[in-house]
Amino acid sequence: MTEVLDVLSKYFGEEVARKLLDVLKIEKLYPTQEAAIKSGVLDGESIVLAAPTASGKTLIAVLAALRHLVSGGKALYLAPLRALAAEKYQEFREVFSPLGYKVALSTGDYDSSDPELGKYDVIITTNEKADSLLRHKAPWFSSISLVVADEIHVVGLEKRGAVLEMLLTRIRSSFPNVQLLGLSATVRNLEEIASWLGAKPVRVDWRPVKLREGVYYDGAIYFHDGGVKEVEPREGALVDLVLDTLEEGGQALVFSPTRRAAVSDARRVSAAARKFLSEREHRLLAAAAARILQSHSDKVSEELANLVKSGVAFHHAGLSSTSRSIVEQLFRERVLKVVVATPTLSAGVNLPAKRVVITDYRRYNVELGYHERISVMEYKQMAGRAGRPKYDLEGEAVLIARTAREVEFLMKEYVAASPERIFSQLGSEQVLRSQVLSLVATEDSIKDEKSLKSVFSRTLFSAQFSPLAAEAAVEKVTRWLLSTGFLERTGARIRATAVGKRVAELYIDPMTAHMGLEFFKSKKRCSTLSYLFLLASTPDMTTVSVRKEDIDKLEELLQSRGEELPSPPEDEVEYEWYLSRLKTALLLEDWINEVREDVIVERYDVGPGDIYSLTQTAEWVAYSLSQVAEVAGFPEHSANLSILSKRIKHGVREELLELVSLRGIGRVRARSLFNHGFKSLYDLVTASERDLARVPGIGPSLARAIKAQLQGGAEAGEEREVLEEASGQSQLDEYLYPH
Ligand SMILES: Nc1ncnc2c1ncn2[C@@H]1O[C@H](COP(=O)(O)OP(=O)(O)OP(=O)(O)O)[C@@H](O)[C@H]1O
Ligand SMILES: [Mg+2]
Repeated sequence: MTEVLDVLSKYFGEEVARKLLDVLKIEKLYPTQEAAIKSGVLDGESIVLAAPTASGKTLIAVLAALRHLVSGGKALYLAPLRALAAEKYQEFREVFSPLGYKVALSTGDYDSSDPELGKYDVIITTNEKADSLLRHKAPWFSSISLVVADEIHVVGLEKRGAVLEMLLTRIRSSFPNVQLLGLSATVRNLEEIASWLGAKPVRVDWRPVKLREGVYYDGAIYFHDGGVKEVEPREGALVDLVLDTLEEGGQALVFSPTRRAAVSDARRVSAAARKFLSEREHRLLAAAAARILQSHSDKVSEELANLVKSGVAFHHAGLSSTSRSIVEQLFRERVLKVVVATPTLSAGVNLPAKRVVITDYRRYNVELGYHERISVMEYKQMAGRAGRPKYDLEGEAVLIARTAREVEFLMKEYVAASPERIFSQLGSEQVLRSQVLSLVATEDSIKDEKSLKSVFSRTLFSAQFSPLAAEAAVEKVTRWLLSTGFLERTGARIRATAVGKRVAELYIDPMTAHMGLEFFKSKKRCSTLSYLFLLASTPDMTTVSVRKEDIDKLEELLQSRGEELPSPPEDEVEYEWYLSRLKTALLLEDWINEVREDVIVERYDVGPGDIYSLTQTAEWVAYSLSQVAEVAGFPEHSANLSILSKRIKHGVREELLELVSLRGIGRVRARSLFNHGFKSLYDLVTASERDLARVPGIGPSLARAIKAQLQGGAEAGEEREVLEEASGQSQLDEYLYPH
């Protein structure tokens, strides 16, 4: 303790060091942390640290940030996923608030420069959000003195990797004095990554909690360290492995390759897990199940609530955010015994899993139509969720083998393997289009192809694939941007056109804007479905997949409403993609026509979380296209898309837009008010509180809060609470009330 106090005092002074230790509650520094400090991270040195999972990398970021804060600087912390950003926000706030520093989390809305963020000392964002803030020339950006890139190995992931690569390249060239701290899982080409960033590579091979990795086959786990552990054969590999963990008093985290598999695996272990619950746990879980059902009443949530009662849950992106956080919290509190997750849960999170079970090393790739192997990196990330310092003294990660031969294969290719080299993904044209446009539109120093190329010469792509390859890629994309009118050229000089500038700010793929513009030119008037089909066709949207049983219905619809849609393509593969866009457009149409959420879940075979993310993206694309239409001189399309984006945001018909502008009023309550004669804000102003309270779904306290809101915005504390609770509900669970 004295040792760590000495080290921290040296950098922060004794008073701050003591306070810091008070909140951190650590006894000594981990070797990872010592190594980072030794390499100069607290003396302003840029480093990229590659260290095993759970080795305490976050604290290094905390200390480095504090170093900057005490001398008047600011820190930006980048995370690849919103969920991880949220977890770090909690962690950072716990440390920095008592020291008097302000931490902000900013992950939403891509069309703003968030000037408010300037007031904070530590800003936590996703890579994508930081990229968009840079495009908006957020004024506070230049006061950032430390940038932390967590999970920096995502540079090697398709699409999202390229965003991070360009973001770091731009930060380096626009703000050369910023200190960079890259935190990474173990990677093979650390030196290459570090050298690209002008940082010192630091490699540590140490983990605070022992992680035993092994392969299960036929009644035994064969560990890499040579140990063998018998597992009583009862109901098959997965259930036996889970039972074995629970009997030892631990919790199990299972990774299944798909959502469907996660649900069925969770079902399979539920009977076995039930026996391990105490009276108290039964009660807590029953209450949690009720909370899940209260917030959503679709079939996904029902299935989840049922399983939760037996101490088991599944976890995937189709869950509503309420359900997801209930599951995570209960698992952390050790009330839930087993969580079966898709690999989206794997990056960076801290969960108490004594044993991680990975059921399959393959994953079905929907786009390619076949199974592909997961990477070693991904395996290590999943495995690394076991044995986290706060929770367990030792962890185990087990891959399930199906044959004796597979045991050897898995041992060699995953357990004993070292993670792959990280390769730049900047070759992707989709990312390049957007990055080139953004550079020309926002960087004053970029005036011609030469200066553009010089930025790209500083990318990892250029270092790995030769500067010529980078130049050729940039040239090709620049030509496209010139031909589509987002860039214009006079002599050697290149600039962004007005539309091009707006597209860069909106953070949409220029291809999305181009498709919008072509659509606006070809159509004077069109139906809502035509717009929705357009949205679903853009590369910024995801689409829902088409099942066999959907095809007849979709084709019938093509017969009856074909004139609202572009004609279907002949090509078989193209046709499949056309149908999935159509299905997505229809889902959105149901949503804005106020079809109930549980009905949509059933009809389209999606989870409530999918509806949420689809509508969020669609709202953003609709909004962006309305902005593009305005700048490009299509006022009518602009107005229509603007209304459409609001309807998508709230899931309502146009007549309810005024009512849903109130806090605490979502689609269901608004419909209820409307049907009871309160059709506008004016109607609400003139109504009595008593009349409002009588409307189903409103009640006395919300009625009072609404009145207060209408009378001048500043509600009293209690009313604000009621509204906040109601708006949480209106987004998440207002759908409960039938209409
Ligand atoms: N010096 C320390 N003493 C005790 N506990 C520590 C110390 N440093 C970190 N921890 C704890 O270790 C756990 C794991 O740390 P952290 O989340 O930083 O891991 P990580 O290295 O980022 O792993 P991953 O690669 O999985 O993201 C946290 O619960 C943290 O509170
Ligand atoms: Mg981490």
